[in-house]
Amino acid sequence: MATAFLFGFGKVGRELVKLLLGTDQDIELVGVTSSRGTVLTEGPRDKAELLRLAREGRKLHEHPSFIPGLLAPDSAVAVKPDIVFIAIPPSYETGEPNRTIYKALVEEGINIVTADKTVLALHYNWIKGKAEENGALLGYRATVAAGTPAIDAARALRYRGVESLRAVLNATSNYVLGLVEQGLSLSEAIERSIKDGLAEPDPSIDLHGWDAAAKLTILANELGLEAALNDVDRVPLTEEAIGSLAGEKARVKQVASLRVEEGKAVLRVAPEAVLPGDPLYYAEGERNVILYYLEGDMIRLEGPAGPAWRTARVMLADALEILRAS
Ligand SMILES: NC(=O)c1ccc[n+]([C@@H]2O[C@H](COP(=O)([O-])OP(=O)(O)OC[C@H]3O[C@@H](n4cnc5c(N)ncnc54)[C@H](OP(=O)(O)O)[C@@H]3O)[C@@H](O)[C@H]2O)c1
Repeated sequence: MATAFLFGFGKVGRELVKLLLGTDQDIELVGVTSSRGTVLTEGPRDKAELLRLAREGRKLHEHPSFIPGLLAPDSAVAVKPDIVFIAIPPSYETGEPNRTIYKALVEEGINIVTADKTVLALHYNWIKGKAEENGALLGYRATVAAGTPAIDAARALRYRGVESLRAVLNATSNYVLGLVEQGLSLSEAIERSIKDGLAEPDPSIDLHGWDAAAKLTILANELGLEAALNDVDRVPLTEEAIGSLAGEKARVKQVASLRVEEGKAVLRVAPEAVLPGDPLYYAEGERNVILYYLEGDMIRLEGPAGPAWRTARVMLADALEILRAS
C-alpha cells in the first residue's frame, strides 16, 4: 500500500485525515506534522486518536504520541513516504519555510500534493524543474479554485492563443464585498467575515490581493506564460476604492486579469466596477468565475472553490493520479 505524510493539521489537513483514516482508501497515512511537531501514526490506536482529533477540530499537539520539535520537512524525509500532502499557510513575502520544505522533498524524489500556492506562485519553473530532475511528481489542482478544474482548463488552453483572462478568484473578498453591498462598512464586513470563519484574523492576504495574485500567476504559467507573483500589479481593496467604484448598477468585485502583450503576460488584481451582463457580476460567495478570451470568443469556467472538505477531496484525487503514474 502507498504511504503518505501530511504537513498541516488545520482546516484542510483535518479534512484529509478524515478522508484517509475515516474512509476506505489505498493510501496509508504514516504521519502528520503541524507548526510545532509531529505524530507518527504507527498503530491503530494512533490512527483512531488522530481521526478523533480531526473530527472534533482539535490541535495536533493534543495527540498522546505528539513529538514536539520534530518539524517539516525532516519529519517526512526521515520516513520517505510515497507522497507528502502540503496544507500549510502561504508565505508570499519571504517564501519560507515553504520553499525549503518543497526543495527537501523533491530532492528526495518524494511526490507532493499541495493546496499551498507559495512556491508555484513565486518559483513556478524552478520547482517544476527540480521535481523533474529528481523524478518527483507534483499535484496542485487544489491551488486554484480548488473544487473546479481550473488548472486542467488552463493547461488545455496552453497552445490556443489566449489573449486575455478575467476572473474572480478570491472567496473572502467576494464575501466581504457582498456584506458591504448589504450596508456594512468595510471594517464591519471584515469583522463579520472573521466571525463567520470565512476570513483569517489577518485578512490582508485576501483583501490586498495576494491570494488572487498567486492563483493568477499559477494560471498564467499553466497557459505557458512565464510569470511570478511579484509581476502582478496588486491594488488593495479599501473603503475609498469601493466608494469610488460602487454605482447604482455596478457591483464592486476583486478582479484578477491577464492580458498577453507581445507574448508576455500583464497581470493585475484590483477592485473593479462590474456591470450586469458581465459573468463576473454574478460571482457569489465561494464560487469562482474564470473567463478566457480567445479566437474571437469567450470560454467561461465557473464553480466552487472550497470549502476545506472539497479541497481535501481534490488533493486525494491528485494523489491517486500520481500513484497511478509512478
Ligand atoms: N481552506 C480551504 O478551503 C483552502 C482551499 C484551497 C487552498 N487552501 C490552502 O491550503 C493551505 C492550508 O489551508 P487551511 O485553511 O487548512 O489553513 P489553516 O487552517 O490555517 O491550517 C494551517 C496548518 O498548517 C500548520 N503549519 C503552519 N506552518 C507549518 C509548518 N511549517 N509545517 C507544518 N505545518 C505547519 C498549522 O499548524 P498549527 O496547527 O500548529 O498552527 C496548521 O495546522 C493554505 O495554503 C491555503 O491557502 C485552503
